[in-house]
Amino acid sequence: MSQAETQKEGSILFVGIDLGTSRSSISSSNNTREWVESYVGWPKDFISLQVVGKPVLFGAEALKNRLSLDLCRPLERGIIKEGIEKSEEAVKEIIKHLIELAKPSGGQKIYAVVGVPADTLKVNKLAIRRAVSEFAHSLMVVSEPFAVAYGMNLLNNSLVIDIGAGTTDFCIMHGTIPSEEDQKTILNAGDYIDDQLYSYLSEKYPNARFNKNMVRQFKEQFSFVGDMPDEIKVEIPVDGKPVLHDIKNEIRRACESILPALVEATTEMIARFDPEFQIKIKNNIVLAGGGSLIRGLREYLQDSLKEYGPCSVTSVNDPLFAGSDGALKLALDMPSKYWEPL
Ligand SMILES: Nc1ncnc2c1ncn2[C@@H]1O[C@H](COP(=O)(O)OP(=O)(O)OP(=O)(O)O)[C@@H](O)[C@H]1O
Ligand SMILES: [Mg+2]
Repeated sequence: MSQAETQKEGSILFVGIDLGTSRSSISSSNNTREWVESYVGWPKDFISLQVVGKPVLFGAEALKNRLSLDLCRPLERGIIKEGIEKSEEAVKEIIKHLIELAKPSGGQKIYAVVGVPADTLKVNKLAIRRAVSEFAHSLMVVSEPFAVAYGMNLLNNSLVIDIGAGTTDFCIMHGTIPSEEDQKTILNAGDYIDDQLYSYLSEKYPNARFNKNMVRQFKEQFSFVGDMPDEIKVEIPVDGKPVLHDIKNEIRRACESILPALVEATTEMIARFDPEFQIKIKNNIVLAGGGSLIRGLREYLQDSLKEYGPCSVTSVNDPLFAGSDGALKLALDMPSKYWEPL
């Protein structure tokens, strides 16, 4: 029986999961699409349990109740923190939660393709397998940018740049399943921008009271590189009173702080290929991940690479689900011999 037929029978639910540092999403063959911020929290003690009212919380809800919780962001910097049982447990909880959100019907087997940051794939494939094995019956683990490329049919002569929270992952597609040499990871991504912005703002406004979470929200609302005419002002408390602060220059500097490494890694990846392919790849560069939403970034990258000949950079339409949609497509198309039974 082909997989499509098996699926029609309803005995298997195919799911694509994108396990990200900051957000994880699931797309499944019953057409559900859900996501959660990759935070897991357990009540610290029995008082906290009464306050929050459940044994485990996820995402925004976990962040909101963080004072009562033992909070874990298991994939920080793209790697399940080694030797930390809690992180593995947290990944397990995220996978379980996502699969529940996909609402499998009773008795359905779960066939999962899981996309993870490229470095996690190298270091922690076993840990991921362990985390998924309780909830799925069959599994394939792939790198996030490969999942994105597959979902967009970019199987040949293309470069996917996935700018996430912990890492920016590069993946060159040249008509085969990408190998390690076709992929590269750098740590200049969303979290790095947040750190920069936090320190620029602390320096400029020493009396203002803000935290990393607020800084990330400022960035997500206003991120840009290059020139932009609008003012950027936000309310931040000083001595308990809300005061408007101009943060435009700091936003720009923080967002632009990833550009040199981004351009360098892109050029280096392309240069690995023979010149005929280089031209094709340069005309087929796709930005994915939450960082692809930074205004002006696509244009900046395209202009910087044009120095050495024509070049086209585009962005995916739906950065939140591009990875899990691609993983689902892979799950539906994959011949059975590639599935690892669990
Ligand atoms: N509009 C925006 N402008 C700039 N950055 C944004 C915007 N929206 C989201 N982000 C950032 O994108 C990052 C999250 O992107 P994404 O969900 O692709 O990452 P992830 O898959 O969780 O991380 P990784 O791929 O590193 O594991 C966060 O750093 C978030 O702050
Ligand atoms: Mg990602």
